[in-house]
Amino acid sequence: MMLHHLEPLPPDPLLGLTDRFNSDTRDTKVDLGVGMYQNEAGEVPVMRAIRKAEHRVLDSLTSLAYVGAPGVKAFVTHAPTLVLGNTVSPDRVACLQTIAGTGALYLIMALVKRASPDATLWLPNPTWPNHHQIAEQTGLSVKTYPYYDRATHWVTLEAAMDALADAGPNDVVLFHACCHNPTGGDPTVLQWEQLADLAHTQGFQVLMDTAYLGLGDGLVEDAQSIQIMANKLPELFVALSASKSFGIYRERVGAAIVVTRDTAIRDIAQSQMTQIARSTYSLAPAHGGAVVGTVLADDALYQEWADEIEEMGARLRALRNGLADRLANLTGSDRFDFIRHEKGMFSFLGISAAQVDQLIDQFGVYAVSSSRINIGGLREANLDYVANAIAQVIAD
Ligand SMILES: Cc1ncc(COP(=O)(O)O)c(C=O)c1O
Repeated sequence: MMLHHLEPLPPDPLLGLTDRFNSDTRDTKVDLGVGMYQNEAGEVPVMRAIRKAEHRVLDSLTSLAYVGAPGVKAFVTHAPTLVLGNTVSPDRVACLQTIAGTGALYLIMALVKRASPDATLWLPNPTWPNHHQIAEQTGLSVKTYPYYDRATHWVTLEAAMDALADAGPNDVVLFHACCHNPTGGDPTVLQWEQLADLAHTQGFQVLMDTAYLGLGDGLVEDAQSIQIMANKLPELFVALSASKSFGIYRERVGAAIVVTRDTAIRDIAQSQMTQIARSTYSLAPAHGGAVVGTVLADDALYQEWADEIEEMGARLRALRNGLADRLANLTGSDRFDFIRHEKGMFSFLGISAAQVDQLIDQFGVYAVSSSRINIGGLREANLDYVANAIAQVIAD
């Protein structure tokens, strides 16, 4: 027997919050915890193009044989263009279909560990907590750089650049390509240029974690950070998650995309990633990749998807303004104005953990204890209720 040597681990705080929300019987309850986009009916919708593609994939299904090592061809052929546009020639790009964004991050970090066992991965502080866990799993050393000022709600670019002045060729710096989780604070285009210049002069590698494409300022705008990096750097890692952008969370679709100096290095990266996947889970599941690949490869379906993701992004921006307007009226201050300029699904409200508890206990408004709220869990119909709850909690 050996398992008794292990300690039981606490449940993931976010999953615990979802359990509490599900057992709450108040019909006014609002889930601003877990990061999924909900429509005005409170559903996590199946996107229109995805539903059509699901039918096409099933109707044309002739076999459930293994797919080839890179994954579903249509998906791995088109996924890189989604993030890189035409900044890089395809013969410099390795791409492997992965088990969603998490799997892409794992694969890329494992590749880095193989390429340079004593490399350091730099993560923004704060970041998505799983970044730390995945890095630990792959054995990479981690450092953090300051990213966000909780008092002003702005990205602390200067402090980030100061810290990253210590990074060099044996370091990989992770940036959230858009819609930073958990803060919603993104660098401006000019700041991305500065970060790319810093990477170039210092010689550090860049890993762009891309999980919210289209949900910030738009599909083109949200990929700009990646393309700025691709234009300036000889090598670039991109972990792409299709979960949010295609509303396909449970199918686990993503891609590990590696831009390399030349085709010979591309082939090395592709073969190494294939072997890492082979020895952990062998191949990514095909269905979700086939569905997203069908959308990406078909002009009409692509347009339908692009229109819908743009609608979702516009709705998130309207919800941000709606919440900020109401909070400005109720508090008579601009304290919550930052919600307008932040991007994507998340913002930190900037209230205490005790006040978050009060939001949950008194009003059934569920948020993470850091005061991160999911804007995608709001609805026009509950904006007044949520704004009132926040205003009351901070007034107490
Ligand atoms: C910043 C960030 N990266 C990656 C992911 C990966 O998501 P998934 O594995 O569901 O595609 C998430 C999901 O919440 C995220 O917030």
